[in-house]
Amino acid sequence: MIKSKPILSINNLCVNYLTKSSYKNKQQYAVKDVSFSMFQNRSLAIVGNSGCGKTSIAMSVLKLIKPESGQVFFNGKNIHKMHRSELFNFRRQVQPVFQNPDEALDPLMTIEKSIRMALSSNILKSQKRDMIISLLENVGLGQEHLKKYPYQLSGGEKQRVCIARALSTDPKLLILDEPISSLDISNQAKIINLLKDIKEKQNLTFLLITHNPNILKFLIDDVAIMKDGEVLEMSSYNEMILNSQNEFTKRFFRNEIG
Ligand SMILES: Nc1ncnc2c1ncn2[C@@H]1O[C@H](COP(=O)(O)OP(=O)(O)OP(=O)(O)O)[C@@H](O)[C@H]1O
Ligand SMILES: [Mg+2]
Repeated sequence: MIKSKPILSINNLCVNYLTKSSYKNKQQYAVKDVSFSMFQNRSLAIVGNSGCGKTSIAMSVLKLIKPESGQVFFNGKNIHKMHRSELFNFRRQVQPVFQNPDEALDPLMTIEKSIRMALSSNILKSQKRDMIISLLENVGLGQEHLKKYPYQLSGGEKQRVCIARALSTDPKLLILDEPISSLDISNQAKIINLLKDIKEKQNLTFLLITHNPNILKFLIDDVAIMKDGEVLEMSSYNEMILNSQNEFTKRFFRNEIG
């Protein structure tokens, strides 16, 4: 059997926000020696309690922070050794959706402009508007939203705009960091359905970060459980809920860990 190559590999990742002089032991690492690989069309969730290092992994994968040690490979290329054009492609192929759309959207930009800024400069100006309309339609928003500012949208609509913007570069991997946590229950369900839909239609792979076990079964194949900066265990979702012997994992799936 030919094994496909990973879309993303993380090798021995360590993240430490403290300066060398201010830490004395490994306890102060936000991420401690984390390694895993992800394959196309096999979505992974990183789950665990608050402060265990989930976002630090996401930020490292997005190359928004520099890990103290370890490497991140995207399609076999070390993201810290990429040339300009490789980095440009990487930035388009790996797109984030964050928890809070209010922080992700510029309050002084219309929805149209926010998405336009993300579109490739190679696309003709005349085609951009149609593309933006179709990106918005794809996430269930109509043309009437084009000229609106973020304050004129609901939380759920703003998160849809963030998803549309993330999809505007035709990414392969979406990094979703608590994408529904800031939304009310009915919007949470709608955004889960939307993500499920676009994942299937657009052949996307998700790296989903969440502390909510209830959304896993709809969106992901594999789960990594984190605690205190380390991955405690990693397996397929089904295997984990059926067979995990780990007490922390069992508590997580019983919704006892927030
Ligand atoms: N920019 C930063 N500077 C200093 N410390 C940080 C920074 N970002 C995160 N930390 C610390 O690193 C640790 C891991 O934080 P991280 O944000 O990765 O956790 P998380 O699992 O995403 O938590 P949550 O579920 O609350 O979002 C925490 O102790 C946090 O206080
Ligand atoms: Mg976080």
